[in-house]
Amino acid sequence: MIIAIDGPAGSGKSTTARLVAKRLGYTYLDTGAFYRALTLKVLESSVSLEDGPMVVKLAEASQIELQPQEDKNRVWLDGRDVTQLIREPAVTNSIAPISENPKVRAIMVEKQRALGRNGGIVMEGRDIGTVVFPDADLKIFMQASLDERARRRQEELAAMGIKRELGMLKEEIARRDQKDSTRKVAPLVRAADAVLLDTTQMTIEQQVDFIVGELEKKWQAR
Ligand code: DC
Repeated sequence: MIIAIDGPAGSGKSTTARLVAKRLGYTYLDTGAFYRALTLKVLESSVSLEDGPMVVKLAEASQIELQPQEDKNRVWLDGRDVTQLIREPAVTNSIAPISENPKVRAIMVEKQRALGRNGGIVMEGRDIGTVVFPDADLKIFMQASLDERARRRQEELAAMGIKRELGMLKEEIARRDQKDSTRKVAPLVRAADAVLLDTTQMTIEQQVDFIVGELEKKWQAR
């Protein structure tokens, strides 16, 4: 089966998707990593983030690979392990012009479809249920309040040794939400047939149980 999980930053997608995959013996795939890796490549090059055609050229010439592991996806960019680097705030805050580019998205979507084609996956992102796998067996749209999402992001960054102020994080997340949901190509929207999961007051375990429960309903209905 293909499980598609979409939602804004900090809604709990990655941790939950990872644990759902673990419980089911499925593969977890983090599609944000593709956009992050390309953004890193552009930042390290002499190409401007705003130079669409050159960014597309870089995307075409890039080898971005996701290697699913027990607890995360190891991310390779042109043979270099960039798993940690792509989480840096400098990358996070530069993604928008890259992820808005329709040609870039087409390249990434193709790679993501190839990875998920055989099923047995939990794929997480912004457009999985709407664009990448519109026929996914189960679609979940996760959300949480802005305050809670900023708090989670702060905790996540602290675990990586990065200290950030809560108010700043709130602003950044709100700006990213706005860009992700209003962009012309593949905006962050809930697919009509996606199950809504508000995680503001939920523990990770409750979220995992909820999604596995939804999947069991699908199995029973088959
Ligand atoms: O999930 P994340 O925070 O790692 O995603 C990073 C950025 O990539 C996010 O701002 C939006 C973009 N993204 C996207 O446009 N489409 C996806 N399927 C996944 C992420």
